Amino acid sequence: MDQILIKTETDSPAPLLAAPAIPDYLLNTYHWAYINPTNVSWLDRDLIVWAILWGNSGRLMSAAFSEIKPGENVLQAAYVYGDFSHRLAHHVGPDGKLDVIDILPIQVNNCRARLEDLPQASVRLADAMNPGGGPYDSVCCYFLLHEMPHEKRTDVIRGLLERVAPGGKAIFVDYHKPAPLHPLKGIMNLIWRKFEPFAIDLMETEIETIVPDVKNFNWTKETYFGGLYQKVVARRT
Ligand SMILES: C[S@@+](CC[C@H](N)C(=O)[O-])C[C@H]1O[C@@H](n2cnc3c(N)ncnc32)[C@H](O)[C@@H]1O
Repeated sequence: MDQILIKTETDSPAPLLAAPAIPDYLLNTYHWAYINPTNVSWLDRDLIVWAILWGNSGRLMSAAFSEIKPGENVLQAAYVYGDFSHRLAHHVGPDGKLDVIDILPIQVNNCRARLEDLPQASVRLADAMNPGGGPYDSVCCYFLLHEMPHEKRTDVIRGLLERVAPGGKAIFVDYHKPAPLHPLKGIMNLIWRKFEPFAIDLMETEIETIVPDVKNFNWTKETYFGGLYQKVVARRT
């Protein structure tokens, strides 16, 4: 993959780091949500996340965190708007470690500002398909997979599973195909078609089947809110 060099803000003299190239799906489909600084500043709020998830943000966060024990070494595969990272850092506690990555410098800076009072948390620039670090007790991938094309999704799942320690787990929370008579099915289909086009093929795919060649994981799935959301856990044996 092409690499560009950028300067990042750190406590020590700013080094030049190799940054991952920004993928087309972020530049073309999600620029408004994650790159446009004005939009980022008003979207990065708990109330917005709560509304986007139809009031389920607390429940889905708890579902993800229930898989993670205090004291664990945890990778968060991308920044999440609102207080997700702050709450996860509190959840792992002072004896744990939270390593958050994101592919966009603006989101890395956002996340750093939210976590600056929590020494167990650190934030760095990386592509989730090649996250580095670890091995981790838990890898948490929250509403990331639906935002990317299938090929990239495959690489990201593979890259994240590679960082899971023996006995550890990867947790994927994301959209799921709702029940046939779900009252929000029509509006969600319109939203996905207009704003989140890569979500549509995630609806038709079991996450477990995306990397059939990756062995040594036991997979489980739970759905929530009439099937509109899912939590898939891959435990490394
Ligand atoms: C976790 S997803 C969506 C989360 C959810 N919609 C929310 O409330 O924020 C959004 C983040 O994923 C990041 N992202 C997208 N592709 C990525 C990748 N390949 N590697 C790391 N971060 C990525 C974006 O920069 C953005 O900050």
